This record gives sequence, structure tokens and C-alpha cells, in this order.
Amino acid sequence: VFLGIDVGTSGTKSLAIDAKGKILASATATYPISYPKPGWSEQEPEDWWQASKATIRQLVKKAKLKAADVKGIGLSGQMHGSVFLDRKDMVLRPALLWNDQRTGEECAEIESRAGGRAELLRLVANPALTGFTAPKILWLRNHEPKVFDKVRKVLLPKDYVRFRLTGEYATEVSDASGTLLLDVAGRQWSRPLLEKLELDPDLLPTCYESEEISGSLTVQVAKEVGLAPGTPVVGGGGDQAAGAVGNGIVSRGVISATMGTSGVVFAHSDTVETDPEGRLHTFCHAVRGKWHVMGVILSAGGSLQWYRNELGDYSVSRAKRKKVDPYQILTAEAAEAPPGSEGLFFLPYLTGERTPHADPHARGAWIGLTPRHGRAHMVRSLMEGATYAMKDSLELIKGLGIPVEEIRVSGGGARSPFWRQLQADIYGQPVRTINAEEGPAYGVALLAAVGTGHFKSVPEICDRVIRTVRKSSPKKKAAAMYEKCYPEFGNLYRSLKGDFA
Ligand code: XUL
Repeated sequence: VFLGIDVGTSGTKSLAIDAKGKILASATATYPISYPKPGWSEQEPEDWWQASKATIRQLVKKAKLKAADVKGIGLSGQMHGSVFLDRKDMVLRPALLWNDQRTGEECAEIESRAGGRAELLRLVANPALTGFTAPKILWLRNHEPKVFDKVRKVLLPKDYVRFRLTGEYATEVSDASGTLLLDVAGRQWSRPLLEKLELDPDLLPTCYESEEISGSLTVQVAKEVGLAPGTPVVGGGGDQAAGAVGNGIVSRGVISATMGTSGVVFAHSDTVETDPEGRLHTFCHAVRGKWHVMGVILSAGGSLQWYRNELGDYSVSRAKRKKVDPYQILTAEAAEAPPGSEGLFFLPYLTGERTPHADPHARGAWIGLTPRHGRAHMVRSLMEGATYAMKDSLELIKGLGIPVEEIRVSGGGARSPFWRQLQADIYGQPVRTINAEEGPAYGVALLAAVGTGHFKSVPEICDRVIRTVRKSSPKKKAAAMYEKCYPEFGNLYRSLKGDFA
């Protein structure tokens, strides 16, 4: 049996699988997120630890696991977050998260210290973006210098949980790529950039390959959660790379489009591919010696969540009466408006945008309202806008010369048949779902099976356990309409850009 733990933004999800990849049990525990100021977003690392322990205990109970059954553990989690530890390993302040936007000035500082954007791309394959970890470290140095002076280690969210499980300061290449401090091509910390930023390399943990064993359960923790001391913990992966392993995105040509709160378009690559303008992230894959490129949309499913919470009261109350999910009511309503929403557009930039605009000031908007438009048009155009934003990333990936032979969809946007069809129509290509819907936790449980020697390689295990199940193909008329509307969507952002700032 192998365990996968995914320390997400809304909660921690853990699962247990057997050596054939079958899920034996899963468990979740949630925690809050705090927004102390506009653009800030923080969580308490202790919450992640408590949730991780609680879910492991639940797995042990639900799957009736004996301590000796569990042969390995894999860790995944929200990327980029910063956990600051002092010399006694105490957490110094709440962690700044991936969607925190406070570090605009620090991004400029990094670019200038690095000697320009081109040089930064050469050193770490990515531009400085507000969500990444390095700008967060500089923010602490610039704004809370007394706290900064006490920092001895900076860990990513899942790596803090690893530290509590094993006592080791460790990370792995896929999550480390999102710190902006990793030489992505060389798969090791970038000494030259650390020097230019005047950051002590000892602040960072040891960096492993994702399948490598990074430590083992301490006696104390093993007792607390009901597992055996010494159980190996493998590197694991940032949630996107881990989710890609869980979706079988481990060879060239197979792309995933995942819509959760954020939306991510992810492609495997055999070599380091960078967009010269830095619009896509170029990170190490959780597959040894491989890389990936991805585009990240900050509010894809998040836009629909916002709509449901703020404007969709009726969908919540109707859903209660009919005992269905409110999203079912909303998507049924969206289906009443025609493709293209009769000229109504929605820009899904509620929390700024990463790909392709790298613009923390971008904002959401409906454009083109007339009295003909009703709720159906509003919700349909919102889903269309989020999907056009995903297509932006898909087009950038194609532009790098990476073939898009198969698109696998997952997350909330793949659960609804309506949204799956919408994706096929807007991408202009069939989309498929797969048998395993568990994403990152599943991916790192597979990595644990490989890292502990039960399988030869990540592609081998993916080949064994992952199959595509459903296919939605583009409908001619709708696809033609979207081909016409898509350029308009891009033009609208460009026209409004100056007004957002
Ligand atoms: C990836 C990213 C998000 C977080 C949260 O770059 O920022 O997907 O990992 O899940």
C-alpha cells in the first residue's frame, strides 16, 4: 500500500492505493485561508500539519491498514508558498500563498539584481512573478526585517509537512522550480542567482528528484498516526506536476487542461523549452530527467465559484430543493444561451492573471451587455471566458512546437458534460477524461510506488494504471462560432489593460 498526501489550498486530501493503483480509501480535512489585506493571501502551516495527520489516521482506519502494510508515502501540495522557520524550527509568521499578489516591487528588484529579464530566464528559465517564492523571501527582508533576521529555513507547503513527518529539510525538483531559485535546466539550486539576490544557500532545503526517497517517518509521528517508524517518504511533486503524473501526462503530445479554482494547461517536454517572453512556466517534471511547460489561469473555476457565491443565490436555493449540486443548475442555465452568448464576453481576471498576461492588476469584467442578455448569457459567457483563457495557454504551448495530440481534462470543469463540450468546442479538438480522478494525491502515491522500487519508472506505472474513459468532440457550428469570438476575447483585454493598472 502507498499513501499520497496533497496539501491543497482549501484542504488536504490523502489517499491509499494498492500496488495495482486501485484506490483503497481517501480522506480530506479542510482549513481556512486569510486575506489580511487586499491582494494578500495566507495560511497557517500548523493547519496543514494537523490536516495531514488527521487524514493519515482516517486512511489507516478506513482501509484497515496495519502499520507494516504501508511501503511508501508521497507528498504533493499547493506550490510557491513560503514557510519561514527559525533556528528552533518554529514557524515565524503565516505562509504567503501562491495567489498572494503583494510582491510586485520585489519582482522588479529580482529582475534588476539578476541583470535583466533575459538573464533571469537564462538562470532559472522563468520570469519573476508575484506568486513565486523568491519574491516572497525578498518581501520579508524588505518589510519585516526583524522576522527575516530570524529565518533559518524556507520551506514549501508540502515540504513543511515532510519536515514534520521525517525531521528532514527537503524538497524535490518540480516544486523547487516554482521558487524561482532553481536552475531548472541543471535541476539544482542556482548559486549565481542566490548570490545576486544576497540570499544564503543554507536557507534552502536539499533538493531531490521527485521519486527519490527524501527521509522516513520518525518514531514519534509513526506512533501518532498508526504507521511504522522508518516508512520511506519520497520527494513527491508540486500539485501540478503530481497531478500530471496522476493524469498520465508523462510523454510528449499528451496535454492536460485542469480546471479547479485555478486553471492549468500542462505539457510534458523532453527538453527545456522556454517561451522567450516568459509567458509559460518552464519547470522540472516529476519524471526523472524531464521537464514541463504550463500556463496558469488564476480564476478559472474560481470565476464560477465567485458567481455562485455572489450572484447565484437562486441556484443554491433551487439546488437545495432539487437536492442537486448548485453547479448543475448553473450549467443547465448556461446551456440555454447560444454559443458565443450573443456577443457577451467575460474576462476571468478576478484575481489578476498569470498566463499569458503576467498582470496582477488585471480585473474581471463583462463586456457587451444589452437588454437581450439574461442570467443564462452571463453564466455561459463566464464559462466561455474561463475557457478562452485556458486556450491562450494551449496556443502558447503549440507555439513552442510541442504537439497537442491528446487533451485530457480534469477538475471541476471536467465533471460537467456541458463544460467538457464547451472545452472541446473552444479548443477545437476532442477532450478526454481518464479513469483516475484523484489528481495530485494519486500522482504522488504512484511516485512512492516507483521510488520504493515497486515499479521501474513513472511512465511504466502510468501506462499500467491510467486509461482514458470519455471523449467529447467539437461540434462544427459551435466550434466555428468560437473560432470567430476567440480573437475578440484577446482584443478586449488589450484594450482595457491600461484602465486596470
Ligand atoms: C501553480 C500554481 C497553483 C498552485 C495551487 O503554479 O500556482 O496551481 O500550485 O494549486
